[in-house]
Amino acid sequence: MTAPRVLVADKLSPAAAEIFKNRGIEVDTKIGLDKDQLAEIIGNYDGLAIRSATKVTEKVLASAERLKVVGRAGIGVDNVDVPAATARGVIVMNTPFGNSITTAEHAISLLMALARQIPEADRSTQAGKWEKSKFMGVEVTSKTLGIIGCGNIGSIVADRAQGLRMKVIAFDPFLTEERALDLGVERVSLEELFRRADFITLHTPLTEKTKNIINAQSIATMKKGVRIINCARGGLIVEQALADAIKAGHVAGAALDVFEVEPAKENVLFGLANVISTPHLGASTSEAQENVALQVAEQMADYLLTGAISNA
Ligand code: MLT
Repeated sequence: MTAPRVLVADKLSPAAAEIFKNRGIEVDTKIGLDKDQLAEIIGNYDGLAIRSATKVTEKVLASAERLKVVGRAGIGVDNVDVPAATARGVIVMNTPFGNSITTAEHAISLLMALARQIPEADRSTQAGKWEKSKFMGVEVTSKTLGIIGCGNIGSIVADRAQGLRMKVIAFDPFLTEERALDLGVERVSLEELFRRADFITLHTPLTEKTKNIINAQSIATMKKGVRIINCARGGLIVEQALADAIKAGHVAGAALDVFEVEPAKENVLFGLANVISTPHLGASTSEAQENVALQVAEQMADYLLTGAISNA
């Protein structure tokens, strides 16, 4: 039997290529291919390993005669046309756990940065302004954190937030009362979460149900002075509605790692006071990238060599 061949098309930790080689799989790494270049060569491969940059479209899949598996080193598979892959018998797998801690830590970092206006205070101080009285913050102790989506990542955020002595409430249709009790969080409806939270953090995938979950109407029901954090997916928030609410002073600040259009080179929220933005860094730590690269390579190798499927 000839060795299976895998293409690594996004920047993955070198640990992934090592695993493929050690398991007898041929591996090529070609980063930054456009969709035509990818479509041209994909027919030579049995496996495609990606992060979020490579778009696996129907057109790419149409040229992928040998392809058996797409492995996403990370959680979201929104850059893969999953129905088109499934229709061709191509398995799409992700690594749902490898970057959960890292993403939760990013959410907590943004929460603290928002509470104390750290990025703006840093810019002002380094500009030589010493505006000590301008940057009055808020304590997070005893404040209510509303978590939308209390799965792998949201539950870690809940744990860390309790360490900060926050009161945690969560909306998640899949969260059982028993699990909520275990996590020490109060299960609430979305309406109640909007009404009670001082900080809101999103940890849900983007689906038809969750798209635009934060919009002008829902913002209007939130507490004045609420602060919003999004390390999940851009389309969860109607950006114009959030910008309007920040300008009107109803929302005190927002920290966003994800945007409706990425890469976000411009955005209605950019430049507003108390808006913090990072370029989709939620999963970007060396630990998480090592984890997801190892996991995706092992899973893909298992499938290509033995037919064993995980996280598909
Ligand atoms: C994910 O889906 O895992 C995250 O959005 C991080 C990434 O871009 O890999």
